[in-house]
Amino acid sequence: MFYKLKNIFHHNRVVSHANKNPSILITGGLGFIFSHVTEYFVKKGWRVIVIDNLSEGSNPDIVDGSFVHYNVHMADPKVVNIMVRENPEYIIHAAAITDVDYSIREPYRTFKKNMLGTAHAFEACRNLSGLKKFMYIGTDEVYGECDHPMKEDEIILPRSPYSCSKAFGSLMRTAYENTYPEIKDKIVETRMCNVFGPRQDTRKILPQIKKSIEKGYSIPLHNEGAGYREYIYVKNIPPSIDLILREGTGVYNVTLGDGFTVKDLIARAEIITGKKVVTHPGNRPGMDLKYQIDSSRLRDLGWKPEYSFDEALKEYLEKS
Ligand SMILES: NC(=O)c1ccc[n+]([C@@H]2O[C@H](COP(=O)([O-])OP(=O)(O)OC[C@H]3O[C@@H](n4cnc5c(N)ncnc54)[C@H](O)[C@@H]3O)[C@@H](O)[C@H]2O)c1
Repeated sequence: MFYKLKNIFHHNRVVSHANKNPSILITGGLGFIFSHVTEYFVKKGWRVIVIDNLSEGSNPDIVDGSFVHYNVHMADPKVVNIMVRENPEYIIHAAAITDVDYSIREPYRTFKKNMLGTAHAFEACRNLSGLKKFMYIGTDEVYGECDHPMKEDEIILPRSPYSCSKAFGSLMRTAYENTYPEIKDKIVETRMCNVFGPRQDTRKILPQIKKSIEKGYSIPLHNEGAGYREYIYVKNIPPSIDLILREGTGVYNVTLGDGFTVKDLIARAEIITGKKVVTHPGNRPGMDLKYQIDSSRLRDLGWKPEYSFDEALKEYLEKS
């Protein structure tokens, strides 16, 4: 039976380890994607610990006492002690500033927060006696602009402050795997394409399209809507993470291969809803025109995503 832990906000509280179910610590576990992952593992009866400083993109309303929450900044060195003291069997490091436009305005702050936070997460993993798997959440953006679907072993070439701060974790993974043999087979990394669905930050493209359809809001269109990205529904993510934590090794791209330009995406949304999306010209300096990844490695592991892009887009635009 799942041992229900009392919700805590203070890092110095002693936490019971009486639970026999697996334990997982998720940084950024209140954010858009990983709030779904937090709830998924709580539902499975795991002991879940979340480190999240309630910054941009967080959903504090999901804190309900079914998991432990530490309101701490990952760039604060004390997170290493917290993680080591909690001694979870699994760690997912997802906490990050994820707003590309912010990273362009504030590159130094983005590097400081994302890279220091990632360094602390890796340091903790090196010092955990009961660790089974540590998952670093990378992104397809680390590959830089693509002219074909990128495989996991291809060179990464990040071209924005955000993707550079994320690629730091991808490089830390190779450095730690190579240097510390005791954790070599315990580190995995995922590189997801663009995720969409309930709880997504309203500054991202699909929430903006939804807002435009529902409220007539005008969307800034970067590069005249030519930016090509792949999209996946958030409800497909928790089972993929679960599978990789149990059976994965190395790096996994996560995509169904559903790629569109923003212009195409808008046209699809207009067909589904019968409503018009309003846009105006926008600008993102140095924007990569195309990200495209190959997920055959994850499919070979047995991944069978539940939601297709078309049904997910319909559900997202009409029901959520
Ligand atoms: N959204 C996507 O399409 C996408 C695609 C590929 C990879 N990713 C990666 O997945 C992860 C989650 O993305 P998301 O879109 O759900 O993010 P989000 O912005 O919705 O949530 C991020 C969460 O992390 C927390 N956080 C941020 N910085 C923190 C810090 N220094 N200390 C503690 N908590 C902190 C925030 O409070 C928030 O709850 C990120 O690592 C991101 O790079 C996202």
